[in-house]
Amino acid sequence: MILISLCTYVLSIISFSSVPLVTQPIDHPQMESFLVPVYQHWDDELSQYHICEQCPPGTYRKKHCNAEKRTECALCPDSHYTEYWNYLDECQYCNVFCKEYQYVKNECNSTHNRVCECVEGHYFEFEFCLKHYKCPPGFGVKRLGTPYVNTECMKCPRGFFSINSSASQPCQKHTNCTALGLKQVLRGNAFQDNVCEPCRSSEASNSRCSGPFSKKEIALCDQAAFKFIARQKLTLKQLRVLLAHLPGKKISTQHLRGARWMNTGQVQTFRLLKHWKIANLRLDTVEALLRGLKEANIHDAYTKLLHRL
Ligand SMILES: *[C@@H]1O[C@H](CO)[C@@H](O)[C@H](O)[C@H]1NC(C)=O
Ligand SMILES: *[C@@H]1O[C@H](CO)[C@@H](O)[C@H](O)[C@H]1NC(C)=O
Ligand SMILES: *[C@@H]1O[C@H](CO)[C@@H](O)[C@H](O)[C@H]1NC(C)=O
Repeated sequence: MILISLCTYVLSIISFSSVPLVTQPIDHPQMESFLVPVYQHWDDELSQYHICEQCPPGTYRKKHCNAEKRTECALCPDSHYTEYWNYLDECQYCNVFCKEYQYVKNECNSTHNRVCECVEGHYFEFEFCLKHYKCPPGFGVKRLGTPYVNTECMKCPRGFFSINSSASQPCQKHTNCTALGLKQVLRGNAFQDNVCEPCRSSEASNSRCSGPFSKKEIALCDQAAFKFIARQKLTLKQLRVLLAHLPGKKISTQHLRGARWMNTGQVQTFRLLKHWKIANLRLDTVEALLRGLKEANIHDAYTKLLHRL
């Protein structure tokens, strides 16, 4: 007798484990065709198995079924959930808590654990929310970062540039000077835009140029050239030599002396070149700068400027 019941026990375990999802129809008016998952429950008193219905998501199994009664399910208490049909004897605790740089995307409810997501500008990696990478100058954003993926950058290809470190800006197209009726005086690279300048009246017949241009436009173009020289970070000595070799009227030493005490580096260079231009309004700015750099033997800046023409 004992032997037989042990045998059926073993057999039923085998059959249970080999049929993972047993289902049987539920007699619910709105879900006639829905099959409720079931499970087998060993009834100690009767020494037999019952096939019990499982409990739906949001509930847990409070009492097993028996010969007379169906499974008794109960709602999950606060801060607990069950996501699937189950016969757990208690609901699972909502154990996800949002950490630094995360916000609650979905609050815990009876069927779902809490879901956290990285705040704007961050992505999830190794349990942490890290800042989206900023593509450095010369590189643009190829694909924006998401809460789960970092920014993807690309080197700006020919004809495009990026001045800034940015997690959102793609490479931008160089300004097409001719399309704007302007002359390109400095060629852009991966880091800088083209610099355009209005054509002079002598060039107006050239089909690529049109005019006339306002004094303001001309001034803006000259300033772009000065900024370019300023960015080359000349030493004070180089700056003096350059000023001495620029064509036209020399700027008074008064300006030089004053400037020496005022600002350093780039701002000083910019200011002094502007003073020189004011004294020499009729000169072609870029041509004159090139000549000055060459004669002053400031080779590096000279080739860079030449390269951008
Ligand atoms: C519980 O939250 C999930 C998202 O996490 C949502 O899809 C579902 O509708 C919510 N259920 C209830 C009953 O609010
Ligand atoms: C670059 O950044 C500066 C401020 O950091 C901003 O004023 C400027 O508009 C940006 N330039 C571009 C092309 O986005
Ligand atoms: C600039 O514009 C002109 C006229 O619209 C066009 O012919 C030329 O191909 C453009 N250049 C570039 C580099 O896009």
